[in-house]
Amino acid sequence: MSDPLLKQKDYWNRAIDHFDSIYSHEKSFIGNLVDRLVRWDMYKRFQYTMDKAEPISGRTFLDVGCGTGRYSLEFIARGARFVVGIDVSDKMIETCRERAMKMGAADRTGFLLTDLMQYNPDRQFDVCIGIGLFDYIRDPLPVIEKMRATVTGKVIMSFPLLWTWKAPVRKVQLGLKGCDSFFYTKGQVMALVMEAGFRDFTIEKIGQLYCVTAMR
Ligand SMILES: C[S@@+](CC[C@H](N)C(=O)[O-])C[C@H]1O[C@@H](n2cnc3c(N)ncnc32)[C@H](O)[C@@H]1O
Repeated sequence: MSDPLLKQKDYWNRAIDHFDSIYSHEKSFIGNLVDRLVRWDMYKRFQYTMDKAEPISGRTFLDVGCGTGRYSLEFIARGARFVVGIDVSDKMIETCRERAMKMGAADRTGFLLTDLMQYNPDRQFDVCIGIGLFDYIRDPLPVIEKMRATVTGKVIMSFPLLWTWKAPVRKVQLGLKGCDSFFYTKGQVMALVMEAGFRDFTIEKIGQLYCVTAMR
């Protein structure tokens, strides 16, 4: 693994519980309140992704930077035929595997410890998602190109906005914890998506995020 990827892996191995508690709400009253006020766009992004991924039932998904498997396992719960989740953090991948076992979904999921650029699937997927991923990708174009190459249907992605109060705060907070982070203007997102070869796509602003659905 390259140095930047090792840094990501180390950071996410340490941050896993804190990150997952944003979904589980297993926090103090104040912690949950702060999430609802400051991170509401993460919850909306989840709904956005599920809506845009329809029809989910019977289809195959690739979840790049799958984290604790919240998206992957929701696709399974909604009837997906098969889901592959990939991540550079071994703790994230272990958690996904345990959760899939508990759900009785081990035979419909594959969770792999790998970076997308090293992953060469032997089949294409119907849908590929990269949610909360591009915040941590230094060179996003090859990643978007590869995501495009892995699907027959659509690619769903999110990008954090550059010109917001949150961007510099996150940049400093994450930087102090050894995690590089990256932020985007709408023009940059549009240029990246077009350079990757997409012609049919939508960009929606949800809070401090750009959510993109691009058709292959
Ligand atoms: C903010 S979490 C998002 C997890 C999940 N997509 C979600 O939204 O709940 C970002 C995840 O991306 C992973 N990640 C960062 N860079 C990666 C890369 N180059 N390839 C694969 N995963 C990566 C991290 O390990 C982490 O688990």
